[in-house]
Amino acid sequence: MKFLHFTDIHLTPSGETIRDRDPAQSFAAALNHAAAHHPDADFAVITGDLANWGETAAYAVLRDQIAAAPWPVRLVLGNHDNRDRFLEVFPDHPRDANGFVQYVFDSVQGPMIVLDTVEPGTHAGRLCDRRLGWLAERLSEIDRPAMLFMHHHPVPSHLPAMDVIGLMEAQPFRDLVGAQRERIRHIFFGHCHLVLTGSLAGVPVTSLRGTNHQGWPDFADPKLLTGSDLPGMYGVVFVEADHVIAHAIDFTYAGPMPKMPTEYAAWAKPTAK
Ligand SMILES: [Fe+2]
Ligand SMILES: [Fe+2]
Repeated sequence: MKFLHFTDIHLTPSGETIRDRDPAQSFAAALNHAAAHHPDADFAVITGDLANWGETAAYAVLRDQIAAAPWPVRLVLGNHDNRDRFLEVFPDHPRDANGFVQYVFDSVQGPMIVLDTVEPGTHAGRLCDRRLGWLAERLSEIDRPAMLFMHHHPVPSHLPAMDVIGLMEAQPFRDLVGAQRERIRHIFFGHCHLVLTGSLAGVPVTSLRGTNHQGWPDFADPKLLTGSDLPGMYGVVFVEADHVIAHAIDFTYAGPMPKMPTEYAAWAKPTAK
């Protein structure tokens, strides 16, 4: 199975830029690149910060942009999203019994579980008792290991300013993942606008840069997040019975891509003084 991972697209109402880039144009370029190179993907997922300030018009842009995609596009909410305005534009979108945008979708490699970590009025995230209870129930009823998709980072980033806006009261979530590690294959997330890999209680975790504007890992600044003009990316994730591998695609790269022969002796030849 192959799926595509987009994150932090931060769509704005038409024409508004972020760090001199138009998020709708950036996301369109990523979508077009992915559709051209990976039309055979099973699905795509966007791990939150769909709209930059939860604008209804931005969700309408999203709806129109993904309508022509060659794969189903699964949506996750982030701290920049507004749950009510999202549901105005996507009225039939699945949600849980408490109204959170949490849901399960099937894949040939098992169930995929989407979490809603939005807490209105803060950039930090929350998985309250009701959301955690829903996750515990889903994990108890699946018969194959699941993958989780969420916006906020499931483990500390050790970037002080980023962890101020991480998951609040994260320990119960982390304890649940630890207790259910046999039922969770992998966690994909967003929010940090950085390439990150690691694990939580033995469960691998993966994130990548957004499609428009990016972060920078400043380990010293205790208060202010650090941005950068690094290029955007999307992920191509292969999932098979015994492995998962996630690639990061710099879809704006337009430089040379020389071909390298794989014969042992041939590798000396491209070297130059
Ligand atoms: Fe973001
Ligand atoms: Fe975020």
